[in-house]
Amino acid sequence: MAFTLAHLSDPHLPPLPAARLRELASKRALGYLNWTRNRHKYHRREVLDALVADIHAQAPDHIAVTGDLVNIALEAEFAPSRAWLESVGAAEHVTVIPGNHDAYVRATKHRAAEAWSDYLRGDIDGGNGAFPFLRRRGPVVLIGVSSAVPTAPLMATGKLGAAQMQALDKLLAQLATEQAFRVLLVHHPLHSCSRVKRLTDSRQLRALINQHGVELVLHGHDHIHSTMWLEGPHGKIPAIGVPSASAIAHRQYPAAAFNMFSIERSDGGWRVEQTVRGIGRDMQVKEIRRVQLS
Ligand SMILES: [Fe+2]
Ligand SMILES: [Fe+2]
Repeated sequence: MAFTLAHLSDPHLPPLPAARLRELASKRALGYLNWTRNRHKYHRREVLDALVADIHAQAPDHIAVTGDLVNIALEAEFAPSRAWLESVGAAEHVTVIPGNHDAYVRATKHRAAEAWSDYLRGDIDGGNGAFPFLRRRGPVVLIGVSSAVPTAPLMATGKLGAAQMQALDKLLAQLATEQAFRVLLVHHPLHSCSRVKRLTDSRQLRALINQHGVELVLHGHDHIHSTMWLEGPHGKIPAIGVPSASAIAHRQYPAAAFNMFSIERSDGGWRVEQTVRGIGRDMQVKEIRRVQLS
């Protein structure tokens, strides 16, 4: 029997709660303006609800959510984000990592890990909010890292940092001796042409992957369908991104979609099929395409 893993990202949960004036005396002021002028038109709760209902209908074994649950990290955004996660599934069944919008400003950068603690709790370390964390589900090992750091206005870069990179190096070295299907969850993509949106230490992260290997990388942040092939120790590794889970199609951004990965052992390796499901203008979610990844 194949193990099925669903991946969605960047719900940017609407609506944005009203902000207090003092909360806007920061980078949030621009983000708030951006939301009230533009983003609220494109991130819609009914879209997100339709997508999540379809995920539930597909009954995956596990669900991964790769960050940007909130918008400008107002204190009032975290309780609804927790409630939304619970509506997606129980913490045992759903794994989340934070994105840059979840750590938008210094004042609340720790709140995501607190509010979602049991959804990003490692099997062994007991949920102290540390990254990387590791969760084993069936043949799959989920490795969650955080690239979420507060940045200057108009910047949306991410960074793992030296301490996390070192811990990940150790963890991946240990896992390399196992037969598990290793899935790395990271909010930012591992390649970016945008100076203001990139993962600043992506080169180091790609070097670790190249040295130790994983079977799959899942990310969000760019809000588009994307498949990149990274160099691994035994061949190419797919790194896959999805559109925002609440988006209607706008400008260069496609409408909300998620991926389902069907994973099974085959001839000493893995057979992996990706199914892309997305929302149409009629608000129905349907299959867009299937891709055999290995
Ligand atoms: Fe995002
Ligand atoms: Fe992001």
